[in-house]
Parts: sequence; structure tokens; C-alpha cells
Amino acid sequence: MVADLFVALLGLSTPLVSAVAPGLELTCSLNRATQGISISSDGRKFLSQRYSTSDPPQAVELLNDNSTRLYPNVAWNSYNSSNPNSNPRRTFVSIDGARIGPDGRYWLVDGGSQGVNGSSKLVGVNLTTDAVDKLYYLDSIIASSSSIDDVRFNAAGDVAYLSDTAGALLVLNMTTGKNILDNDYLLVGDIFATAWAGLDFSGFETGDSVAVFGSSPVGLLAALCHTPRGIRSILDYEPKGVKRSIDCIGYEAVNADLKHEQNIVINSMVSVTAQGGGIGLIGWFTAPGSSSGTPRGSTMSPTIEFPISDFFDKGLSMRSGAVDVLPSAPGAG
Ligand SMILES: *[C@@H]1O[C@H](CO)[C@@H](O)[C@H](O)[C@H]1NC(C)=O
Ligand SMILES: *[C@@H]1O[C@H](CO)[C@@H](O)[C@H](O)[C@H]1NC(C)=O
Ligand SMILES: *[C@@H]1O[C@H](CO)[C@@H](O)[C@H](O)[C@H]1NC(C)=O
Ligand SMILES: *[C@@H]1O[C@H](CO)[C@@H](O)[C@H](O)[C@H]1NC(C)=O
Ligand SMILES: *[C@@H]1O[C@H](CO)[C@@H](O)[C@H](O)[C@H]1NC(C)=O
Repeated sequence: MVADLFVALLGLSTPLVSAVAPGLELTCSLNRATQGISISSDGRKFLSQRYSTSDPPQAVELLNDNSTRLYPNVAWNSYNSSNPNSNPRRTFVSIDGARIGPDGRYWLVDGGSQGVNGSSKLVGVNLTTDAVDKLYYLDSIIASSSSIDDVRFNAAGDVAYLSDTAGALLVLNMTTGKNILDNDYLLVGDIFATAWAGLDFSGFETGDSVAVFGSSPVGLLAALCHTPRGIRSILDYEPKGVKRSIDCIGYEAVNADLKHEQNIVINSMVSVTAQGGGIGLIGWFTAPGSSSGTPRGSTMSPTIEFPISDFFDKGLSMRSGAVDVLPSAPGAG
């Protein structure tokens, strides 16, 4: 049935009866360009109709006799930008993506019109009452130069993920009606994944002692709330050295006199890491050269002096590199 309908939808204003592929059957022809179909759990069909140069976007229910009716009603589909009495807060101004949510509502994304306050919104229609009973205005969370065009929900149906035409993803807390800022996810994505990979790079196994160099967000997460210690105190605390160490600083490191000392962290790690231990290097070590974005880039040397004898005698291993976020934080994609 769904496949049949899609064929029909492609028919647009000229029924393509002769173009229907073998095995498919035409079940309905529509006179309006139709962008999406949503089918409720009890089989009701809703169409969002857009992409017409002459007709305003509208939402309709497709009835069993192949006719359509404006949905949820005429008023919601009556926006007229030339009429000052037309209320963009209570009408569809430019509907785009639409779908049945986990709560059973028919949700429509209204991309609105730039500069028209209240026109950009997420509209929830209760299919029992056929009335709009949830409405989120999005003016305050969209950028002035873009609009939203589609939506997905979490399983619980209380978070909406809205795609934005400029390529952003807006996350709406449907309980509060406020957006969840990207910053709330920042640590879960790059930072957490990098910290996690640092432990992996060091060869960490449960129970291993770890020295983390650098108290940046990455370092703090890698340390899982341990206070970073100096080399002396690490060895006071772990006289045989720690099993693993992680560099969360990179070659911009400074020494106790706040002088740039590119190899201080690596050398310290070799000092404090015990026989057979491992070193994870997630601090940055690419020599960028100078550019307008990195005016002091050429002060970073691509080579450093390294205590290779200690490294060899202790049988240490070391792994480094840029971190691929997706394996440890799949949601961050
Ligand atoms: C709906 O339209 C299709 C294609 O035009 C037609 O075959 C079918 O009989 C129609 N169904 C009803 C109930 O009118
Ligand atoms: C839109 O509003 C203008 C101004 O009131 C009116 O002239 C026009 O007929 C309206 N268009 C439609 C399609 O109702
Ligand atoms: C948009 O409408 C809200 C009320 O819903 C109001 O607080 C806000 O000032 C309006 N913004 C503009 C630019 O008119
Ligand atoms: C839809 O409205 C009915 C009747 O008011 C109500 O019982 C039901 O909970 C509403 N649906 C949702 C998803 O809130
Ligand atoms: C949404 O806001 C509510 C109320 O502040 C809060 O309890 C809930 O955790 C928030 N949901 C998300 C996903 O942030």
C-alpha cells in the first residue's frame, strides 16, 4: 500500500498511469505536488503538500475515497501573507517535514517565513481530537539566515531534533520548550571520546594506575576527577611508576617557569611510567607551520629530544594520533 501510494505521489498533477512499473499498481492520483506521507498506527494517511509554484503549502488527510480534506482544518491552512489579519502563529506559513511522533500525534514542521514572528514552529496535532494541542515557537532558537525543515524524535517523545537548512541540528526539550545547547553535547562528543581514546592508546586495563598530564576538559575526563600531580609527587605516590600515562597537552607544553618546553610532557611520561607500561599521546603534535590561523605555528618543531634509552630499557609502548570520535561516541555523528 505504501509503495503504491508513493508511485501515486510521483504522479503529481499529471497521472503517470502509463509509467507505473510492472508489479506496481496506481491507487490514487493527486492534483498537488506532494512532499510527504505519514500513516498513523490506525491507518489514517496525512500528506504535506509543498513545492508548488502557484499553491500555498498545505496539510491534508487522504480519505478512503481518494479525496483529501485540509488538515487539521481550513483555518490552519489559510495563511495569506498579503492579508495583515492572517495570523502566522496559528496557521501553516511554510510547512515542510511532517511525521507521526512516538506519542501518536501528527507533527508538522513549519519553516515559517524570515522576519515573520511566530511563523517558524513545530505543530502537534492530536489525532483523537483532530486539533492542534502542542505548539512550539522556534523564533528564539533558529538563526536569522536559515529555517528548519524536518524533525525526528527520541523514543520517549520528549526531545525533538530539528534540522536546519544551514546544516545545523537544533535539539528541543519538549518539556521546557527550550533548546538544548550544543554545548551540552560537546563533552559527550569530541572531548569525551578523545579522553576515552587516550586511555585506550595507553593500553589501559581495569585497575591500572594512570598519570594524566594536562587538566584541560580532556585531561580531567581522562583522569575521571583525579587531581593531576607533578612528577615528583607521582613517584612519591607510585614509587615504581604508574602503569599508564596520558598526554593531554601536546607540544605546546610549558615547564614550571612557564617557558615553552615541547618535550617536557613526553619526557615526564617516560620517567613516571613503570616497566612494561604504556603511553597514550592525544595532545596535539602536528607541526602546522605559520599561517594567519596559526601565526606562531613555526615555533613548534616537528622533532623533539626523546629519552629513547629509558623508553627502551623500560620496554614501554606508545600510541598516538588524532582520535576518531565515532567508535566511542556513536551518537556524536
Ligand atoms: C482511487 O484512485 C485510483 C486511481 O485513480 C482508482 O483506481 C481507485 O479505484 C480509487 N479508489 C476509490 C475508492 O475511488
Ligand atoms: C490574500 O489577501 C489579499 C489581501 O487581503 C487578498 O487580496 C487576496 O485575495 C488574498 N488571497 C487569497 C488567496 O485569499
Ligand atoms: C515575537 O513575539 C513574542 C511574543 O510571542 C514577543 O515577545 C517578541 O518580542 C516578538 N518579536 C518580535 C521581533 O516582534
Ligand atoms: C489527545 O486527546 C485526547 C482527548 O483529549 C487525550 O485523551 C489524549 O491523551 C491526547 N493525546 C495525546 C498524545 O496527548
Ligand atoms: C528537559 O527539561 C526537563 C525539565 O527541566 C529536564 O528534567 C529534562 O532532563 C530535560 N531533557 C533533556 C533531554 O535535557
